[in-house]
Amino acid sequence: MFLSDTNSDFFKNKRVLVRIDCDVDLRPKNGRLVVDEDFRLRSVLPTIHFLEEVGAKGIILIGHLGRPGGKVVSELSLQPIADWFSQKLATKVPLFSLRSSSFSTQNSIILLENLRFDSGEENNAPGFARRLAALADIYVNDAFAVSHRRHASIVDLPKLLPSFLGLRFEAEVKTLSWIKKKAHRPIVFVLGGSKSGKLDYIPFLASWADCLLVGGKLPLLIKSQKSKVKSQNYNAKVKIGHLRKNNRDISATTIEQFKKIIAQAKTIIWAGPMGVYEEEENQRGTLEIGQAIAGAEAFKLAGGGDTHRVLSWFNLWENFDFVSVGGGAMLQFLRDETLPGMGRAKIDNED
Ligand code: 3PG
Repeated sequence: MFLSDTNSDFFKNKRVLVRIDCDVDLRPKNGRLVVDEDFRLRSVLPTIHFLEEVGAKGIILIGHLGRPGGKVVSELSLQPIADWFSQKLATKVPLFSLRSSSFSTQNSIILLENLRFDSGEENNAPGFARRLAALADIYVNDAFAVSHRRHASIVDLPKLLPSFLGLRFEAEVKTLSWIKKKAHRPIVFVLGGSKSGKLDYIPFLASWADCLLVGGKLPLLIKSQKSKVKSQNYNAKVKIGHLRKNNRDISATTIEQFKKIIAQAKTIIWAGPMGVYEEEENQRGTLEIGQAIAGAEAFKLAGGGDTHRVLSWFNLWENFDFVSVGGGAMLQFLRDETLPGMGRAKIDNED
């Protein structure tokens, strides 16, 4: 059930656990780490304000950063995230470890340390979910970007407390459901980046989209053994880009081919850079494809942590109709029209 469909009296004087997307980029500043790309954090603010307005007694934010693998990794501490929220909410948001003896829920908003420091999160250990559930009366999932993972805070916790999907989650589900069912064709999907998991979505994208353009490191992964589905199995709608000799950007010929296809689209979805755009000599593919999408007369959607960084790097945010917080989660939702983190929630989207 969505938070916005709930009787707001329900939250009065209740303590609420809010699962957030805080897997964001950090950068060093004056000897400490600070948040660099804050789109995912900004996205959860409406849910926090909603809960404050309906009189929740305390808000406990929980989330993860990176892949520490069940161990404490100091560079992946959520302290920079706590600092970011303290500044944005103009109130001290302290960071607590679930194990710490000084754990306190006295402040109105607190943040728990990186859930993935405990192996119970990714192993989906029932004891871990129970320890989290004991902290609150209600659970809200506003972490769309990680809701494709069957982790304790995503799939077990909602079984232990009255549970709701947050405001950002609702916007994601409604927009992506609309795209899936009603987007104007031709739909062009631009898939890039370096995560091999994206290759699993190629068969779906090749059947749903009118054209799938593949760049970034993915053409290399397709050639190597990492891809279960070999390129000869893809249909004619799949254009696998050629890479330059250094394998760090798509070739000039591929850039031109992709731009021509993008110009014909009525809907464009972009997930992942075309090359190592942080290096000036390898940024042409990502920049030119990004500008081609930005300039197209189409509905434009982008998604994923890497893509958020690209939009900031090349100043392209304003050109997009919707930016999803999710990368893998966006792909999985488009394919399955649900995610493990949605429990039994059913979405009607007749608008
Ligand atoms: C993401 O950045 O896509 C989400 O935070 C999920 O992260 P994961 O791929 O490490 O599970």
